[in-house]
Amino acid sequence: MDKIIVEGGHPLKGRVNISGAKNAALPILIASLLTEGQNTFINVPDLQDIKSTLLLLKHLGARVETYNHTVQIDCGGLCCHEAPYDLVRKMRASILVLGPLVAKLKKARVSLPGGCAIGARPINLHLKGLKHLGAAIELKHGYVEAFAPNLKGAEIYLDTPTVTGTENLMMAAVLAQGQTVLRNAAREPEIIALADVLNLMGARISGAGTSIIKIIGVKALRSVSTRIIPDRIETGTFMVAAAMTQGDIEILNCEPEHLNGLTDKLRLTGADVTINGKAIRVLGQDFISGVDIKTMPYPGFPTDMQAQFMTLMSVSNGLSLISERIFENRFMHVSELKRMGADISVCGRSAVVQGVSELSAAPVMASDLRASASLILAGLVAKGQTEVNRVYHLDRGYEDIENKFRKLGAAIKRVT
Ligand code: EPZ
Repeated sequence: MDKIIVEGGHPLKGRVNISGAKNAALPILIASLLTEGQNTFINVPDLQDIKSTLLLLKHLGARVETYNHTVQIDCGGLCCHEAPYDLVRKMRASILVLGPLVAKLKKARVSLPGGCAIGARPINLHLKGLKHLGAAIELKHGYVEAFAPNLKGAEIYLDTPTVTGTENLMMAAVLAQGQTVLRNAAREPEIIALADVLNLMGARISGAGTSIIKIIGVKALRSVSTRIIPDRIETGTFMVAAAMTQGDIEILNCEPEHLNGLTDKLRLTGADVTINGKAIRVLGQDFISGVDIKTMPYPGFPTDMQAQFMTLMSVSNGLSLISERIFENRFMHVSELKRMGADISVCGRSAVVQGVSELSAAPVMASDLRASASLILAGLVAKGQTEVNRVYHLDRGYEDIENKFRKLGAAIKRVT
């Protein structure tokens, strides 16, 4: 297993290019299942989760070509409606094939994704919506078996604004008869990106980005060529890195509009954040104020930035109350940060962080994607050499991160 060694104490300076968004690319690649003919997607990030998604699409019968951040997918020859456990367990977002398979092939057999380190990750709302659309759903032997000879548009209320739930149901509804209304829908930029691609394919979706999304079913969708939006969480991770290391980083090819929640809080800590078109410049300051955050559905503070922000607060000059409102177990990074000298007390879904003057390097263990990023950030400022183990978590969501940090002046290397 690879590990990453980081030596602290080097302020990060320079420019970094942001890759395509993992959480936009996954549903958009899977939306190919709804089309005939060849789709071309550019600016696709080179990540393990993307590889897992393409493996699953090939298993279903798609023809896939990849080169230089471009992916071509032709689903004209779909021959299978089953997403097996050994593929789904590698990436729970595979559940996103459920809606398109039911819409296109009228049936699907998808392994239940199960939970992960950060929570139980139920899919009850995905299934509730499919039932409203007329699908017969059975849970057997760890699989969801869905059967829907003809999906009909419906009114669907989502108890929580689930991101992949909204995406799954949008993709199920685009070929249904009549109109579907999703209420309390998720509003993330990745939802808008998926709706834009589906509309490019010939769907009739309105309201994406608001909590009420309307989908009028159409007969068929056509293949398209399109570009994946920038990754807002990778962007935010580099913004925090600049603030932590008293650095000066210009982040290029990003979408500042997607980061208002984080930008507001970073500015409150004292960081100087300047937005210039599709670029963000962050100048870290010596004095870092403690700032409270609550993770919320978009456009609130993103849960995927909670671990990274906690690392910043662990070296602040104050106190920070961090409330994780989305997932029930997203403090796995806390114990590792405490081994590096952070002063953090957890009570349920809240953590009180008392900033310390210095973290000390230590061997630490990554537990999930964003926790591993927070440990790299801690290593950038800790005294000595920090060794982050199980970086396969990192490779799921960050493309070439050690080289991106090295180009900014970090003393960082991967050891296989
Ligand atoms: C998406 O996960 C992202 N993954 C996650 O990013 C992100 O953390 C999360 O949204 C929240 O923003 C992808 O887009 C592939 P949810 P998702 O359904 O869709 C509850 C990363 O680091 N819920 O919005 O699985 C659930 O328990 C990953 O890139 C139900 O109760 O998250 C949670 O408390 C980690 N029933 C809340 O909703 C359901 O049927 C939000 O979950 C579905 C969800």
